[in-house]
Amino acid sequence: MSRDEECRHIMSRLLATLARRAAAPSPPRPTASAAVTARGPCGRAYTGTVIRARAASREENDINVGEAAATFVPGTHALSDVASTTLAAMLDARTLGRVTLTGAAKDAEYRRVEFRAVTIRGATALQRTRYDARQAFTSNHAYDGGSSGENANDGKDSKLSSTSSAQEAIEEALGSGYKHWRVERASGAWSVTVNVKKQRATVSRDKTMRLIDGEAKTSVVIGPQSHDREKARLLDGSDPFLKHVGVAAADGSIKTSKRDKYKQVEEFLKILDHAYDDATGAGHMVRGSTARPLRMVDLGCGNAYLTFGAYTLLANKRDVPTHVIGVDIKRQAREHNTAVAVELGWDDCMCFVEGSIAKADVKFVKGNDDAAADIVLALHACDTATDEAIVRTVRWSSPLALIAPCCHHDLQVRLKNASIIAFPPITRHGILSERFGDVLTDSFRAHILRLLGYRVEVMEFVGGEHTPRNTLIRAIRTGSPASKSAWEEYDAMRETWGVTPWLADALADELNEARADVFPNSNV
Ligand SMILES: C[S@@+](CC[C@H](N)C(=O)[O-])C[C@H]1O[C@@H](n2cnc3c(N)ncnc32)[C@H](O)[C@@H]1O
Repeated sequence: MSRDEECRHIMSRLLATLARRAAAPSPPRPTASAAVTARGPCGRAYTGTVIRARAASREENDINVGEAAATFVPGTHALSDVASTTLAAMLDARTLGRVTLTGAAKDAEYRRVEFRAVTIRGATALQRTRYDARQAFTSNHAYDGGSSGENANDGKDSKLSSTSSAQEAIEEALGSGYKHWRVERASGAWSVTVNVKKQRATVSRDKTMRLIDGEAKTSVVIGPQSHDREKARLLDGSDPFLKHVGVAAADGSIKTSKRDKYKQVEEFLKILDHAYDDATGAGHMVRGSTARPLRMVDLGCGNAYLTFGAYTLLANKRDVPTHVIGVDIKRQAREHNTAVAVELGWDDCMCFVEGSIAKADVKFVKGNDDAAADIVLALHACDTATDEAIVRTVRWSSPLALIAPCCHHDLQVRLKNASIIAFPPITRHGILSERFGDVLTDSFRAHILRLLGYRVEVMEFVGGEHTPRNTLIRAIRTGSPASKSAWEEYDAMRETWGVTPWLADALADELNEARADVFPNSNV
């Protein structure tokens, strides 16, 4: 057994003992929903609906579950104590929001686990969603300590649940070596950073979820939610920008002609929602505050459906003070999008720039060129415009990039002109050659980002029925140097296919420098 496995095993057993000591959870109480008017990060009022627990106004110290008081105390503590508090908090379905575990061990099957309370046919259960590199797997776990009363297959990405109880599901997850825990509850949100080896955990209050008069003011839903409702959406027709950009009709219904674009943006935002938590939870990106708003850029924004959607998600729904810049080469895009931002009253937090992705003047703070983007978005920027977006990500050292490429003409041409044809059966047929060119282009993009200090995942962000261009590159900057074998893979790929992609030419200096760090004595 490796040291890590041993630690996880000890942690698991410890949690089981602690859990046995914890009293049975109090029966869940129904939630109350209320329309609230809240203040946006720009100081502007907006209206939304939050569902909050009746106990929401209670102080943290008042929340008790049997013997184990679910009281988080900021500071560094024994991991077992923090795990016990977290367990107790999660067993109180009435006050539970969302719990997210990230920072998985290298060999972990799931890179992220989320929990929330749900009601299924009147019974409260804990819903667990585990994410591997490609999919989400959802299962429901009964709170009553018995085996799961309901196995749910929540859509095509779900698996049938195991028969573990809520308590067992929590113990298993907390004992699996995740380094970052975020616990959202009625009285506020908490971040836990775990050091499994030292068996210590550092707890801090997450101020991005604010309390107004002691109540959670957040779009994070507190308390058990009906599992039978329509699948949770981040956007709905009542979000004002959707009408302004022509995606929703006056009655809030999504226009038929815009359904695919709406779905693309919705699914893209779900990934942004998680990626924001991952990047900030791991300390790779600032959370955004009034003093230092989050800086986000949408490159090749077109009609800015995604730009407005991303602002809505972060600034309005998650209360993260955010500044956004949309870039597009078309003048019409700048003029139209600027007018929409003014209509929405969001123009003090967002602006639109006319220019190429490569060269556009993207300035978040006047006179400060170092004030670069924290988040780079690019949805279907044509051909090498996607590469330009990656170049800017790298040069800004942006902590997070979500890039969904469009067409891939450049490498197709380079492949045709290559001096070698590695595998003629692949390039002989136009359709195969084209698809292969797409795959090779995106493989190079992902790998070059890896070589330059990013942790990269490549995923399908939306079903192919909504767009055939449904690949998304998700990159979080860790700053870690790539391994020697990663460089060898890169060289082998170029040599085998006889091509160097546009992106490698554009980032030649950065690649040479990074290579020299790993192979100090070689000629680069
Ligand atoms: C297919 S549209 C996508 C628009 C938007 N992101 C969306 O998904 O709805 C591509 C956009 O990128 C812009 N574009 C293409 N190449 C560009 C470049 N090099 N610099 C800036 N904008 C570019 C185009 O003008 C167009 O608006």
